[in-house]
Amino acid sequence: MDIQFEVIPQERIHVVKNLCNELMAYQQSKARIHPEWFDGMRFETRLVPSVENAKANHLVVAMDGGEAVGYAYSNISSKYVYSNSFATLDCDAFFDFDSVKGEDVGCLSQFFIKEAYRNRGIGSELFRRAVEWLRSFDSVEDVFIFVSNGNDDALRFYLRKGFRISHEILDGFITVLRNRAGDAAS
Ligand SMILES: CC(C)(COP(=O)(O)OP(=O)(O)OC[C@H]1O[C@@H](n2cnc3c(N)ncnc32)[C@H](O)[C@@H]1OP(=O)(O)O)[C@@H](O)C(=O)NCCC(=O)NCCS
Repeated sequence: MDIQFEVIPQERIHVVKNLCNELMAYQQSKARIHPEWFDGMRFETRLVPSVENAKANHLVVAMDGGEAVGYAYSNISSKYVYSNSFATLDCDAFFDFDSVKGEDVGCLSQFFIKEAYRNRGIGSELFRRAVEWLRSFDSVEDVFIFVSNGNDDALRFYLRKGFRISHEILDGFITVLRNRAGDAAS
């Protein structure tokens, strides 16, 4: 297996269409709270609008030959994007805006490795590249990750990488993880 890491431009995001749909199905399969909220979530309703609405995007893909086997999608957005809607659901703000200096925040928004490729360090390398990109914005102090309920493996992965649990939203549907500039993130 010879894995290559490739940064994919916006016009080629369809390269991860199947992986994105697999991620949504995986999260739904793990969820104990409102799994039905994932029903409408797929590439066209999650990745495409995120990319269009963000101020900057970074999609890094792990390729095995010509096949995309994993990806990490990160973005920089105004914190106000996280006001009060999740998909079509109304909710409180995702985090306390006053606790964020400046206007913009970073987010590791989607992260998925095909099952046969997990536990070989590919996720760690994608994560490292994503965080490096997110931390290259001097004006961005806070990076968030939103983990859906039941995905305890992912939660542990992020905690090992230096993120900390901030709080839960949507009655526990999502756990908000946060990392501030200066915190360790490896
Ligand atoms: C979370 C996820 C992206 C991690 O990707 P991964 O490729 O399995 O991650 P890694 O292989 O880098 O690390 C996982 C573990 O594998 C082991 N590992 C890492 N490199 C290894 C190697 N070269 N050889 C053997 N094992 C290795 C380590 O135990 C590591 O744990 P650590 O963090 O304590 O070091 C992946 O499990 C996944 O896609 N999960 C399903 C989707 C998901 O939950 N996404 C997150 C949504 S919020």
